[in-house]
Amino acid sequence: MSDGFRGCYKLNGEVTDRLGFYGDHDPVELVRRFGSPLYLYSEDILRANCRTLKNMCTYKNFRVNFSVKANTNLAIIRIAREEGLCADAMSPGEIAAVMAAGYEAPEILFIPNNVSGEEMRFAAEKGIMISVDSLSQLDLFGRLFPGKSVAVRLNPGIGAGHHEKVVTAGDAAKFGVNLAELPEIKEILRRRGLRLAGLSQHIGSKFMDSGAYIMDIRNLLAAAEEFPGLDFIDFGGGFGIPYRKQENEPPMDMGRTGVLLDAIMSDFAARYGKEVQFIVEPGRYVAAEAGVLLGTVHAIKHNGSIKFIGTDIGMNTLMRPALYDSHHDIEVYSLNPPAGGPEAVSVVGNICESGDILAKDRPLPRISEGDVLGVLDAGSYGYSMSSNYNMRLRPAEVLLRSNGEAAVIRERDSLEDLLRNQRMIDI
Ligand code: LLP
Repeated sequence: MSDGFRGCYKLNGEVTDRLGFYGDHDPVELVRRFGSPLYLYSEDILRANCRTLKNMCTYKNFRVNFSVKANTNLAIIRIAREEGLCADAMSPGEIAAVMAAGYEAPEILFIPNNVSGEEMRFAAEKGIMISVDSLSQLDLFGRLFPGKSVAVRLNPGIGAGHHEKVVTAGDAAKFGVNLAELPEIKEILRRRGLRLAGLSQHIGSKFMDSGAYIMDIRNLLAAAEEFPGLDFIDFGGGFGIPYRKQENEPPMDMGRTGVLLDAIMSDFAARYGKEVQFIVEPGRYVAAEAGVLLGTVHAIKHNGSIKFIGTDIGMNTLMRPALYDSHHDIEVYSLNPPAGGPEAVSVVGNICESGDILAKDRPLPRISEGDVLGVLDAGSYGYSMSSNYNMRLRPAEVLLRSNGEAAVIRERDSLEDLLRNQRMIDI
């Protein structure tokens, strides 16, 4: 490196070292080269996650849909496709993204919530299967496309997830058609001449144990028996990843989940009398561990008894801690040699809100101004939930390729981007 840069000290880099996340790259040098903050992805880890999912079951008609709401970068989606994953989309924008990444209609499932007829048409005209999630949306679909095939998302009764805001089944959730309403589904199908091609569920996001998932699948399959001729049954996503790797949190047992699913799928297939495709649709599991968010420490101060580490990683860049109190492990990369610690600090961002807190009361090695922080497990629901709040630029995204290259896969926003859609009027 021409400017005499000799590399950083990883003050607590055990997790990324163990994963081989950076390969031969130096995180501080990457920030110098591509700017801060910066979303970084590891192609190797992304591919390995896709393979774990592809291979979790042996049932032959088993399909994995990448739920791209977790990460809509075209390079990430294209890698998932190359690894044999299909896709699920939640909006016309996500459909546009997966199609731009090369997916064709039969590989896409559109699972929207409360959409307009126009949005349904956007998908239907492309030949994309839609799973509607209420009786009124089923009826709307039937009015627009009488005689066509459609899928229905059921609410199988038991929710799961890391926070009440991401539990998507059970009485308090806005999603799906209740199991008690199967007669109404049948009535609308009959009245509109629709064919039910599939049933789906998604019970919530980030469970580490498949207990509730399996119970809901049993409920879903009991409902499926009332509908002969289904092409597919979609169990939903939600597979968790351990966010506390620095405390050796164990991963979810995907092998065991796969064995349980295999038994359920082959048992159902034997009873049902028709070959059915089974689908899972993970988002987080695909990309979370493949992503690290790098940012820079710009200020250190004490307010009362709290030591604040002020960074450029605001809640606009990574929203999960502010929105769900989510924990992300943090590594410290410094140009200075280790200087003691750990000490408990609050790591905060540059946004004008007191809730702009990345980590509260977190024991970390002694941090200096100019240090780079690596926020782990940021590859899912990181960039995809980022915003321009406070007129801040969303960061660039860089992919660390398997061949050792670091490739920009999304440019940092520019100031022009921030003003692009505004119209000047006479005032
Ligand atoms: N399928 C449907 C219909 C979904 O609504 C979701 C996620 C998924 C699949 C994928 O779920 P996953 O495997 O990623 O858990 N922003 C939150 C997560 C919200 C998930 C919403 N739906 C977070 O950062 O934790």
